[in-house]
Amino acid sequence: MQSQADLMPPSSASPSDPLLRVEGLHVSFRHPVDPPTEALRGIDLTIERGEMVGLVGESGAGKTTLARAIMGLVPQPGRIDAGTISFRGQVMADLGDDALRAIRGRNLAMVIPNPRSELNPVLTVGEQIGNVVRHHLGLGRSAARAAALDMLKAVSIPDPARRLDAYPHELSGGMAQRVVIAIALACSPAFVISDDATSGLDVTVQAQILDLLRTLIRAKDSSALFITRDIAITAHFCDRIVVLYAGEVVEVATVDTFFDRPTHPYSLMLLAAFSHSADLRRRWTVPPDETLPGAGEGCVFAPRCVRRQPRCTSEHPALRRLGDARAVRCHFPVGI
Ligand SMILES: Nc1ncnc2c1ncn2[C@@H]1O[C@H](COP(=O)(O)OP(=O)(O)OP(=O)(O)O)[C@@H](O)[C@H]1O
Ligand code: SF4
Ligand SMILES: [Mg+2]
Repeated sequence: MQSQADLMPPSSASPSDPLLRVEGLHVSFRHPVDPPTEALRGIDLTIERGEMVGLVGESGAGKTTLARAIMGLVPQPGRIDAGTISFRGQVMADLGDDALRAIRGRNLAMVIPNPRSELNPVLTVGEQIGNVVRHHLGLGRSAARAAALDMLKAVSIPDPARRLDAYPHELSGGMAQRVVIAIALACSPAFVISDDATSGLDVTVQAQILDLLRTLIRAKDSSALFITRDIAITAHFCDRIVVLYAGEVVEVATVDTFFDRPTHPYSLMLLAAFSHSADLRRRWTVPPDETLPGAGEGCVFAPRCVRRQPRCTSEHPALRRLGDARAVRCHFPVGI
């Protein structure tokens, strides 16, 4: 049987290419009457091999849209207006449908919340994991079943041999999410996106599943993009943090630098929101009755920024590099 791996195009990648590079990515959603929603407005992002990057930002910032764009699955009525996404040096838009499907199935995986919607209710757990490895790795039926059992063990499902023949409705929410992770990681993808994968599960199960995900990703030397609204999660799971606000990257830093010396006023507002100090929250949050209307051509965060100055509402700040792994989009960053 020909495996999907055989369909992969010859790679022009050089060892210096990052695993993933997003350049100048604009994505919008069209509406019948209203103007389009500009969900992503010029995203630049690189992820190196073996790196775990946290993507944080409030609801509507564009996190899921970025994840879907990377997977090549922007939903209707969305479209990529500009920019490129390259995987191992290969521009994804230059690939044919078969090659794209092969890369997506074999090398890119996405784990989302609500595992039940991801699982096929009429196939057993073993069949669902087995189908993935048969299709993408070209394994025969019995090898696929053995691989499925190995994956159930790897995701610490209790009584894995019995669960192999279970149907999704026979699993708890936590177990179903473990099965979804088993399916996502069965082919050892080079890049894994976790989009709020554990929201909806109780806190203890959330921590166990995130730990498990991190252990498996590290063991396979994969890279990951961890999307979350909970900035505290990134401190434990990531090497680097990317902060998204209204479809723009506003800060990039290593986890240590970010938590020690955040520079963007929005990052400080996010961190203050998670702190126990009411004083800190007051200091970095503009009261709702003082927020301004949209800043037009200026900084998108200006209406909510405690540091805004006249220049902020007239001039759009560029993402400025502050060092190798650090960048900020602000005219008046904190501590710089
Ligand atoms: N299918 C869609 N149709 C129309 N607009 C959409 C669609 N998906 C996303 N959007 C819009 O794009 C913007 C970014 O949404 P997105 O879902 O990417 O945000 P998010 O950061 O993932 O938010 P959350 O934390 O709530 O998941 C929002 O303004 C949203 O309304
Ligand atoms: S550019 Fe101005 S408004 Fe925007 S985040 Fe920086 S200080 Fe605030
Ligand atoms: Mg989302």
